[in-house]
Amino acid sequence: MAKLIIEGGRALKGQITVRGAKNAALPILAGTMLIPEPVRITNCPRLTDVENMVGLLKTLGCRTKWDGDALLIDASSARTAELPEGLAGSIRSSVFLLGPLLGRFGAAEAPYPGGCDIGNRPVDLHLKGLRAMGVRVDETSGRIRCLGRPKGTEIALEYPSVGATENLLMAACGAEGDTILVNPAREPEIDDLMAFLNGAGFELKREGSSRIRIRGGRRGRATAHSLLPDRIEAGTYLVAAAITGGHLVLRGGRKEHLSALLTALKEAGCRIRAEGTDLDIEGPERPRELRRLVTLPYPGFPTDMQSQVFALCTVARGTSVLEENVFEDRFRHGAELRRMGADCDLRGRAAVIRGVRSLHGAQVTARDLRGGAALALAGLRAEGITVVEEAERIDRGYMDFAATLRSVGAAIRREDE
Ligand code: UD1
Repeated sequence: MAKLIIEGGRALKGQITVRGAKNAALPILAGTMLIPEPVRITNCPRLTDVENMVGLLKTLGCRTKWDGDALLIDASSARTAELPEGLAGSIRSSVFLLGPLLGRFGAAEAPYPGGCDIGNRPVDLHLKGLRAMGVRVDETSGRIRCLGRPKGTEIALEYPSVGATENLLMAACGAEGDTILVNPAREPEIDDLMAFLNGAGFELKREGSSRIRIRGGRRGRATAHSLLPDRIEAGTYLVAAAITGGHLVLRGGRKEHLSALLTALKEAGCRIRAEGTDLDIEGPERPRELRRLVTLPYPGFPTDMQSQVFALCTVARGTSVLEENVFEDRFRHGAELRRMGADCDLRGRAAVIRGVRSLHGAQVTARDLRGGAALALAGLRAEGITVVEEAERIDRGYMDFAATLRSVGAAIRREDE
């Protein structure tokens, strides 16, 4: 168990370098199973979610090694397609391994996946797609058992699920024949996965924004790939500047992946300048409200930034309305923020947040990864001391979170029990 202890009221100032994206790392690490040769992933963040995925690859027989920020994976020695309970049950991305395992071995078995507690997270779209590829999927034993080499076909996703798109792309790489995925997710992390797989000798191509064509029957070969920058990590630190009235320069991000957030931050009164891969942000003394912010699949406003922006709205001049359309139970940080003096109503998928002049420090609990980060951001603004309990949840997605914030002037420390 870990806690963050924050003394609020300091405007952040300085530079932060954005690290590689967690949500690109996880599917790409799963994708290494398709390649029976050594792979080198650079700019790889050392997060608990990443370490857990590395643990899963090891249980499948892969050899892995860290070399600074590079992760070396050799899946040539992988022999089994069965994921054990425990680790695989605790991280949601274990489900990404089904596609690559099927592509490589024509079989895969995994427990139902875990992950953040942000509502019901079914995997029906993943399994429906695999079934459409001729894979036999059995869910009767409390585990997911898949059998049969996937066959190329046309699959139309009812909803552009990020994980289902990634899983099916990888199954399609090892399939017999070509696959066309209709209505795939458009998140930048999907393109990073495609770039990685193309680099390894597979052939995947977007046809407009609503189709991806994947050539089957190719063999993966040794490759090196540098992960794209983490737009959610970058976004979180942008909000840290915004909420403290600070001035930060984010280095190495990609502003084109942050458009919806940058629009919202400008509406809140931030001054933002982009120069090359640097983003310079100055927060206002007190943010303006966001009239109506709606989370949507990319390029819409990301659900993974909703909690952080929620924290920002708690101290806005007026009333903000946030609508969560991607996950069904993603406002648990709202109740925690109330303990710090926030004035908000949570009604199903909508949150109405009436800005208050100031928050006060309190003892709060990180219920999920991004919600936990949001509480820390609120703590940076609040008067007095905030303690964020169960802060290990934040480690799933941010490397050295407290140390990074401290490096730009925050009074924050971590205690491990
Ligand atoms: C990924 C990201 C996560 C982000 C989310 C949405 C990773 C490791 N995680 O999660 O950080 O918040 O995209 O941008 O990349 N759904 C179904 N059936 C399915 C699959 C999904 O109903 O088979 C629903 C989910 O319950 C959810 C919505 O679709 O309500 C979006 O889920 P999805 O896009 O699949 O997100 P993840 O891949 O889980």
